Amino acid sequence: MKVLVVGSGGREHALCWAIAASPLCTKLYCAPGNAGIARDAECVPVAAEDLDGIVSFCNDEAIDFVVVGPEVPLVMGLVDRLAEAGIMAFGPRADAAALEGSKGFTKDLCAKYGIPTAAYGRFADAASARAFVKEKGAPIVVKADGLAAGKGVIMAETEDQAIAAIDEIFGGKFGAAGAEVVVEEWMIGEEASFFALVDGEHALALATAQDHKRAFDGDTGPNTGGMGAYSPAPVMTQAMIDATMDRIIRPTVAAMNAEGRQFRGVLFAGLMITDKGPQLIEYNARFGDPECQVLMMRLKSDILPALIASADGQLANFDLRWHDEPALAVVMAANGYPGDYQKGTVIGGLDEAGQDGVQVFHAGTALKDGKVVANGGRVLAVTAMGATIAEARKKAYEAVDRIDWPNGFCRRDIGWRAVGR
Ligand code: AMP
Ligand code: GLY
Repeated sequence: MKVLVVGSGGREHALCWAIAASPLCTKLYCAPGNAGIARDAECVPVAAEDLDGIVSFCNDEAIDFVVVGPEVPLVMGLVDRLAEAGIMAFGPRADAAALEGSKGFTKDLCAKYGIPTAAYGRFADAASARAFVKEKGAPIVVKADGLAAGKGVIMAETEDQAIAAIDEIFGGKFGAAGAEVVVEEWMIGEEASFFALVDGEHALALATAQDHKRAFDGDTGPNTGGMGAYSPAPVMTQAMIDATMDRIIRPTVAAMNAEGRQFRGVLFAGLMITDKGPQLIEYNARFGDPECQVLMMRLKSDILPALIASADGQLANFDLRWHDEPALAVVMAANGYPGDYQKGTVIGGLDEAGQDGVQVFHAGTALKDGKVVANGGRVLAVTAMGATIAEARKKAYEAVDRIDWPNGFCRRDIGWRAVGR
């Protein structure tokens, strides 16, 4: 079958790498892809947000199956548009992608169906949001309702910080994403990323992972899309996985059905493991990046039939097998990220790095005059497997050190929590 992957990040490179290995896939395209993806798929110059362009490409090339990587096209309704054109796709329709597209929608759903999450208030004007902060006190968390590329969450340690955040959001800092604000209780615990494939009715838990959101070592500096990840997450014991499926994932799948917004695709729960058990921080309607990279490394089974089963409602009797060995990914980002950074700097040593079971997934690269150059904030995800997390980490950093890119940086402590256990 002819498959199109939509997106251009490290997540999409990992998906292309896994799908290209499937005997079911006869031809793989990626729109728009990047320099690394070009090794596994034919890249086509259509942007992920260009819904018309993607639908007409699929019609022209008789694409059988589309895998949508990022959230923006999902929330814009790419899967709906493809369905209208008779093209099967992996990912939720826009009404179900609201789980990621609107934090207020998700919080209301949790409240209505008893899904454990932080206590909250949802506000359409600054005055009532400010009053709520005054009533609850600090510390407290302030969030823009809509998609803000991971930047719409402000952890306010004081009431003044919370009020300033509310004023900024309603002042237009995040545009339309800030038309509403969610203010919520600051939960204490360890975070984990939990993924389940969902076919509308059934949910299949995938391997667990942990991410590192802060830019610098010791979990300091500003929040990013994720600077590294590993799988499995030691905090996610079987009991915690069962609790997450029973209290959070399955009730959400049922709730979405009851609301007439059937969810298909990958449900990505950001969890806080508290002393009361797993609590939902937020939902995403897509794979995590860089969590997807470590998941694809550990997946033994063919991913493509699983994605198809999610799209056509056939997950009930599905199973996936995983390597026992952990995997760990170190993200290399352009100097300055997540602030301003330079594009176009040359990256060397990629072939030397990608040996002995190490995969260098490209997140933001392009080819220029035959050379790989940086083309984004997060640029590479150097991913390795090992007998232990410590060994995977050693292999990943050895590969990082073979990469010649003076304009990039990475955290040196990815996996610290798991290695320390
Ligand atoms: P989100 O984009 O909602 O995942 O939030 C980004 C990060 O902010 C999360 O990964 C958490 O580290 C943190 N966070 C968000 N909401 C809360 C909360 N209610 N309590 C504690 N931490 C939170
Ligand atoms: N790494 C977290 C995310 O993809 O949102």
